[in-house]
Amino acid sequence: MEMFIPDSLLKTLQEIGEIGGTDAYLVGGSVRDLILKRETHDIDIVVEGDAISVAENVKTYWHGEIQVHHQFGTATVTSANPTYPKIDFVTARCETYQQPATLPNVEEGTLTDDLLRRDFSINALAMRINSDDFGDVIDITGGIEDLKTGTIRVLHDDSYFDDPTRIFRAFRYAGRYSFRINETDSDLIREALPFISDLSGERIRNELDRILLEDNATEIVRMLSEFDVFEVIFKDWRITPDLINGLKTAEDSIKWSSIHLKDDTLLKKNIRWMALFGLDESGCLPTYHIEALCYRLVLDHQLHRIAGHQKETVCEEESATVLRGVFEKVGYGLADNTTFDFINGKWCLVDSGNKSTYIYDEGDIYKIQTPLATYSGLKNVLSKIVEDTRDSEIYHLLREFPLETLALGCTDGNLSELHRECINNFLLRQRSVKPIITGDDLIQWGEEPGEHFQKILHYLFAAQLDGRISCKQDAFTIFQEYKQ
Ligand code: CTP
Repeated sequence: MEMFIPDSLLKTLQEIGEIGGTDAYLVGGSVRDLILKRETHDIDIVVEGDAISVAENVKTYWHGEIQVHHQFGTATVTSANPTYPKIDFVTARCETYQQPATLPNVEEGTLTDDLLRRDFSINALAMRINSDDFGDVIDITGGIEDLKTGTIRVLHDDSYFDDPTRIFRAFRYAGRYSFRINETDSDLIREALPFISDLSGERIRNELDRILLEDNATEIVRMLSEFDVFEVIFKDWRITPDLINGLKTAEDSIKWSSIHLKDDTLLKKNIRWMALFGLDESGCLPTYHIEALCYRLVLDHQLHRIAGHQKETVCEEESATVLRGVFEKVGYGLADNTTFDFINGKWCLVDSGNKSTYIYDEGDIYKIQTPLATYSGLKNVLSKIVEDTRDSEIYHLLREFPLETLALGCTDGNLSELHRECINNFLLRQRSVKPIITGDDLIQWGEEPGEHFQKILHYLFAAQLDGRISCKQDAFTIFQEYKQ
C-alpha cells in the first residue's frame, strides 16, 4: 500500500514498533489519512494486551512524560523531543451497546474486535509497525476499497442506532474528503435520526463543534440539513440558504478578528454558533429558541433566577399540569402550546405563545441568559443609529455587546455600510479610548467628591468621544459650561 509517512512520524512509529512488537498497531484516522496522503494529527496505537505497559516503555525510551488512565486501559505519551507527536495508547477492546445512544460496555479484546467496533470502514484500518512488517495494512472491512471509491459506510446495520453521533461523523467525513454516503447508509441514517434526541447535549454539541471547525463546514451543514438533522435536535431549527451564507460571514469575521483583534480573546466557536442560529430576519431563530438550544446543547449560558416557589414533586406524566400550576401561582401564565422537557436534570419549558423559555428546578424558576442570543439585539440597536448619531451615543449602545457579536456584525454584508463602519470604529478605536478626566481632576477643580461625580465624568467622557475635548484645558471649559 503506497502511503505518505512524513519522516518525523516514520521514526516515531518505528521506535514504538521496536518496543511494542507485533502487539502494537497504528489504527483509525491516522491510517486513513496516511493512505489518503493527508496530514494526520491524532496518532492512536492499539495494543493487543497491556497498552499501559507498552506506553511506559516508550516513555522511558523517549525520556518523555506519560498520563495514564487505568480505568480505560489508556495512556498518552509525550516525548522529550518536541518534533515527536503526542501518542495515545489504547488496549484493544470489544464494545457492546445495551441501548441506543448510550455509551457502550467495554471489554478487552483482539485487534479484530477493536476494528469491528469502529464507525466506518475507512476508520477500521490498522497498520503494522513492527520492523519486519512495517507498513502492512490490515483491512478486514473493505476500508481501502471505500477510500478508493470515496465511500462512507458503516460496518453493520445497527451502527447509527448504537451511536447516533456517527450520523454527524458520516457527514463530517463526507464533507471533508468529498466522499459520498453509501445509499444503504443514507437509509440507515434516516431510520436512526430520531435517536439523535437521546444523545446528551454535550455529545451533540461536541459533534457540531467539530463540524464547524472543518474547512468545508458550510457544505456539511447543508448536507445535515437536507437530512433534517437540525429539526431533530430542535423542532423549529431550520437551515435556510441564508443561514449557510451566515456561516461564510462567520468565517470572514474570524479571519478579520485574527488580524484586527489580535490582543483580544475571542471565542471563535461562539461566532460560528451565532451564525448557525441565523443572522438575517427570515432565517434567524427567535431569542427564546436560541436560549432553549443553548440550554439543551450546554452552550455558553447562565441561569438567572426570576421566581421561587415551594418545591413541587414533578413526575413525567403530570409535568404539564403541575408546572402550569406552579408558574400560574407566581404570575407566569403559560400558553397552551408550551412544551415541557426534562433536560440536563431540570425542566425546560418553551412557551411559544409568550415567546419565553424557562427552566424549573426544585421550586425555582429561571430565565436563560446567553451571549449567543445577542445578534438580533445588536440589529435592533443598530436601527437606532443614523448618519448624524453622535459617537458617544454609538459608544454607549455598542459597548453592551460581546466582542463576538460585534465581530460578526463587522463582516455581515446584510448590514448597511454605515452600521458596519460604526462597529468597526467602535472595535478598533472607540472602545480603547481612555477618559482624559478622572475623579482626581474634578477634586483638583474644587469639586466635592460624591455621587454626582459619576454623572459629570460621564458627561465629560461623552464630550471627549464626540471630539469636543482633546486635552484637560478643553475639559475644564466644558466642565464650567456643565456647572452653569
Ligand atoms: N470512533 C468510532 N465511533 C465514534 C467515534 C470514534 O468508531 N463515535 C473510532 C473511529 O475509528 C475513529 C477513532 O475512533 O477513527 C478515533 O476517533 P476520532 O478521534 O473522533 O476520529 P479521528 O478519525 O481520529 O479524527 P478525525 O475524525 O478528526 O479525523
